[in-house]
Amino acid sequence: MCPFFVSLYCMENKKITIAIDGYSACGKSTLAKELARELDYTFIDSGAMYRGVTLYAIRTESVSPTHLDKEKLINALNDIQLEFRKVDHERHLFLNNEDVELEIRKKPVSDFVSPVAAIKEVREFLVSQQREMGKNGGIVMDGRDIGTVVFPNAELKLFITASIEIRVHRRLLELQSKGIDSTADEVKDNLTQRDYIDSTRAESPLRQAEDAIVIDNSQLTRSEQLTLALKLVNEKLNSPIRT
Ligand code: CDP
Repeated sequence: MCPFFVSLYCMENKKITIAIDGYSACGKSTLAKELARELDYTFIDSGAMYRGVTLYAIRTESVSPTHLDKEKLINALNDIQLEFRKVDHERHLFLNNEDVELEIRKKPVSDFVSPVAAIKEVREFLVSQQREMGKNGGIVMDGRDIGTVVFPNAELKLFITASIEIRVHRRLLELQSKGIDSTADEVKDNLTQRDYIDSTRAESPLRQAEDAIVIDNSQLTRSEQLTLALKLVNEKLNSPIRT
C-alpha cells in the first residue's frame, strides 16, 4: 500500500533502489522491511546471506573457535545455494533448500560471521547475487557495504546509527522473541567485536557513503523512523534530477 505522500509516484510506478547501511543491530533490517512493505518493494537482508555462508562453514567445519580454513570454504562456495522464500508472510533464508532463518540468528553464527564476511571471495560470491537481485530497482537492501559497493548508484542511501546501549537492548528483545537465550554482556561483546572487524577489514569495510543520509534512531520509535525515511524517499521520488 502506498502512503499518501508517495502516492503520486506510486501511480507512475517508478521504482528506485534504497541502500541502508550501519552498525550491528541498529535497526537496519526493521526499517528496510517496513519501507519495502509500504512501498511494495523487495526487501533483501544481505546480512542473512553472510550468516547463511557462515552456517554452512560451521557445519562443514571450515570454521571453529580455533581456526578458519579459508581455502576449504572458498572451494565450497559453489555448493552453497542461498534463496529467500516467503514463509508466513516473512522472508526466510533457505540454505540448500533448508529453512535456516532461526539457525542463522543464533550465537555460533553471530560469533563467526564477521571473520567469514571479511573473506574477499565470500564477498564477491554474495555481492554478485545481491546485484542480480536488485538489477530492476524497487529494492530495499540493508547491510554494511550496500551504498558503497553493492549499489553505489542507489538513488537513496541511509546510514543508521544508535547508541550501543540501545542496540544491545533491542537485540536482546529480538532474540528473546525468537526463543534464543542470551545475556546483555554476550550481546554487547558480539556487537562490539563485529563492529570492529566490519569497519577495519580490508575488503569493503563498513563506512558511510559520502552521499548517505545519517539517521540516529536512538530516540526514535519504529514508526517515527519509518515516517522520516518515507519522507526522504518522497523527496527523492519527486526530485526533478535523479542522482
Ligand atoms: O543484524 P545485524 O546488524 O546484527 O547483522 P547482520 O546484518 O545480520 O550482518 C551480520 C554480519 O554480516 C555483519 O556483522 C557483517 O560482518 C556481515 N555483513 C557484511 O559484511 N556485509 C553486508 N552487506 C551485510 C552483512
